[in-house]
Amino acid sequence: MSEVQLEKLLIDPPAEFAAQANAKADLYEKAAADRLAFWADEAENLDWFKKWDKVLDDSNPPFFKWFVGGKINACYNCVDRHVKTWRRNKAAIIFEGEPGDSQVLTYDQLYGEVQKFANVLKSLGVQKGDRVTIYMPMIPEAVIAMLACARIGAPHSVVFGGFSSDALRDRINDAKAKLVITADGGWRRGKVVPLKANTDKALEEAPTVEKVIVVKRVGDAAQINWVEGRDLWYHELMAKADRHCEPEQCDAEDMLFILYTSGTTGKPKGILHTTGGYLTQANMTMRYVFDIKDTDVYWCTADIGWITGHSYVVYGPLSAGATVVLYEGGPDYPDKDRFWAIIEKYRVNIFYTAPTAIRTFMKWGLEYVQRHDLSSLRLLGTVGEPINPEAWMWYYKHIGGERCPIMDTWWQTETGAHMVSPLPGITPLRPGTATLPLPGIEVDVVDENGEPAKEGYLVVKSPWPSMMRTIFGGDECYVNQYWSRFNGKYYFTGDGAKRDDLNYIWVTGRVDDVLNVSGHRIGTAEVESALVECQEVAEAAVIGKKHEVKGEAIVAFVILKEGVQPSDELVNKLKKHVAAKLGAFCRPDDIIFTAELPKTRSGKIMRRLLRDIAEGRAIGDTTTLADPGVMAELKEKYASKEE
Ligand code: WTA
Repeated sequence: MSEVQLEKLLIDPPAEFAAQANAKADLYEKAAADRLAFWADEAENLDWFKKWDKVLDDSNPPFFKWFVGGKINACYNCVDRHVKTWRRNKAAIIFEGEPGDSQVLTYDQLYGEVQKFANVLKSLGVQKGDRVTIYMPMIPEAVIAMLACARIGAPHSVVFGGFSSDALRDRINDAKAKLVITADGGWRRGKVVPLKANTDKALEEAPTVEKVIVVKRVGDAAQINWVEGRDLWYHELMAKADRHCEPEQCDAEDMLFILYTSGTTGKPKGILHTTGGYLTQANMTMRYVFDIKDTDVYWCTADIGWITGHSYVVYGPLSAGATVVLYEGGPDYPDKDRFWAIIEKYRVNIFYTAPTAIRTFMKWGLEYVQRHDLSSLRLLGTVGEPINPEAWMWYYKHIGGERCPIMDTWWQTETGAHMVSPLPGITPLRPGTATLPLPGIEVDVVDENGEPAKEGYLVVKSPWPSMMRTIFGGDECYVNQYWSRFNGKYYFTGDGAKRDDLNYIWVTGRVDDVLNVSGHRIGTAEVESALVECQEVAEAAVIGKKHEVKGEAIVAFVILKEGVQPSDELVNKLKKHVAAKLGAFCRPDDIIFTAELPKTRSGKIMRRLLRDIAEGRAIGDTTTLADPGVMAELKEKYASKEE
């Protein structure tokens, strides 16, 4: 089927699914009739120490508050309350290590571990409000660490294990973290990720950190240094820790975590989330969008270093009492069927992954899929970037066996939880679109002036419970980045979008200088500043070029300093530098040396034209260029490079 036809396709919800679905069609009406009452009802699904006085405080926009006056603890909601029910002996976490080791933690066991670790944190002087950085592989201790922080009201800042030591250092320093939790290493494609060594390096320039807790994961496979007085083994601390630790009674608006993400500036922003509203929406979407049932085994493949890992590996599913699969390693280790092997092994019912992964699986071929019995699956999800209709169809047919609804969920680090998504059993599905805003969520497509449009910018028109509250240490930046574009009226997502004949929303991708490479957000400015740090580089302009598997690939146009000769060695050196500075996933695919960059008369680089060159298109309007001749030279350069 061609892409054009796929885009018109409509798949009705199967009656059997609809009959058992958690979400009922009247949710939309209910939310439309009284939005705040709807959210208050959803918040009732959590356990509160004290109920809120007010659902929404909008007296100081855009600094909104939800469930004001309420007292709650996120860890209590993810663990303690389940232990009081029959779920006590239910599996909370099914862990699969990359080398093939596995471990099951019941809710009761998780309860014990989390309390012990909360006591460890307290004994090291961590108090309510102190920030803790977590730099770990995908192992149960990472979840235990997050929940233990939440238990004592210490906000965590999880830094993805794929980030470099420099990136880790910057994030530790911005958060002024008191303590770092890491591991000796983690397994990735049969190799050790040197987490402890990276931490050591980061801490050379991170004065606020007093202690480092190290989980022994890879043992002899990693040679690590030990700083006496600073470094402490997790297992030694845990052996001595008491199993009882009362959860802190947090305010609904107490900070739960900071999570750094890329924006349009050279510096990552610490997105700040609070407790009550965040947990309400993470929990609600777990029940309605993912239709979670007590009998389900649920697997989200995201790393806990990203928001998807926060909301849909930890807080959403555990607050719903679900059984969560946690997998440490890569999809192609030891072979390209690893994901399907895991689904078969644990009889996974609900599976959530990214379009870039799906496109990779398509490329690898069906033989890996067909080795395994995937009949346990009943619902699929996707997130991170627009999914092309072909990939959607492949996922639907070959992974879901044409029986599983696909939830294409649009949301962001900033939104905290799903915003635009079908509801399974209710919304007719169409390949490539996240369809409609969820009940209680007011998302729209508007033009430059904020007027509703068929095509334009994606905005959120009213506050929602799991919205970011600010940028850590950057209230002004929060207002400028998200609220100034539409004069304080709407939240600006940074995404472009269209509406189709059914009013379904098609997110077309970022309209700002943020790239989406394999579902990872990377600011062009971050890569550019890493490049100009190199002594050979005078100037750099970075763009995203369409890529079949990654969505976008990084292309850098670089002007060298006087007297520096371009060479293949230099290309490699610069690529390596960016990877070391930011993390391997930020490594540019192409670096092109040039004498000039296309700039307007006011000196602004016209990235649009650079993209035309990189994607081999006819070059767009160059009339505003200071020197239109630049383009011919660049085009020639790029063409000769491609040969
Ligand atoms: C993109 C990930 C289209 C979008 C949860 C957004 C999507 C950015 C989708 C946020 C989707 C995420 N369809 N685009 N279903 N989901 N995006 O902060 O550009 O890592 O702004 O959060 O990913 O990325 P972030």
